[in-house]
Amino acid sequence: MLKIEGLSKSFDGFMAVSNVSLDVKKGEIVAVIGPNGAGKSTLFNLISGVLKPDSGRIIFKGENIAGLPSHAICKKGLSRSFQIVNVFERMTVFENVQISIMAREKMNWNFFTPSSRVLIEETMQILASVGLTEKKDSVCGLLSHGDRKVLEIAVALGGNPEFLILDEPTAGMAPEETGRCIDLIKGLCDRFGLTILFCEHDMELVFAIASRIMVMTRGATLIQGSCDEVRGNQAVQDVYLGGSEVC
Ligand SMILES: Nc1ncnc2c1ncn2[C@@H]1O[C@H](COP(=O)(O)OP(=O)(O)OP(=O)(O)O)[C@@H](O)[C@H]1O
Ligand SMILES: [Mg+2]
Repeated sequence: MLKIEGLSKSFDGFMAVSNVSLDVKKGEIVAVIGPNGAGKSTLFNLISGVLKPDSGRIIFKGENIAGLPSHAICKKGLSRSFQIVNVFERMTVFENVQISIMAREKMNWNFFTPSSRVLIEETMQILASVGLTEKKDSVCGLLSHGDRKVLEIAVALGGNPEFLILDEPTAGMAPEETGRCIDLIKGLCDRFGLTILFCEHDMELVFAIASRIMVMTRGATLIQGSCDEVRGNQAVQDVYLGGSEVC
């Protein structure tokens, strides 16, 4: 479904992503791991059109999307969430999801459109799928951090994606909230047939849901393989975990 070939991006001569290649098949959950500054978010920014690559190809469903703007990529079925929560603080949970659907449908939002009347069914379906139905009228600025991270996934779902990219879905979450996130991501894959590429520092989450893992360090791919292959790899233990055991 997604084939990345020789993708590179530098910032003022510093190679943040260096000749990265990766295949993701339909229905897979693939994790990208690596230490801080390894290039994970930059890779996701390149795939989702936030940044333009210097070189390389990003083939999504047979078409090279490298360099296209985010909205065009989203329209093709690829949505993403951000490492740092990115929602409208003063709007409600319902409105945040509704606006993302309106953006997809090219509908204008304005203060005179009674928001309670448009796209209610789809908005409520998405909120139900992530477990936020009861919080629908809460103002985002007052949500717990865990709920805000989940809302961001819901906002990404508003684009009706086939392929979802999640940048550290559990960043800053309390340990008890992590389990909820694991169930949520697995459910999205199982129930909606979504293909998911995510990066994460929480190894419990990575090993619980990833079918394959790519390890990055200093912008480049160290190895790609199954959870067991990554867990047992000495180079991963040396570079990523400073020699300690994975998990
Ligand atoms: N817009 C930018 N301008 C300059 N340098 C950048 C920019 N974005 C990222 N970098 C640099 O590129 C490198 C990779 O950053 P990136 O955010 O992709 O890492 P990461 O793997 O996501 O790290 P973390 O786990 O901390 O989120 C870092 O050294 C970072 O400082
Ligand atoms: Mg990052």
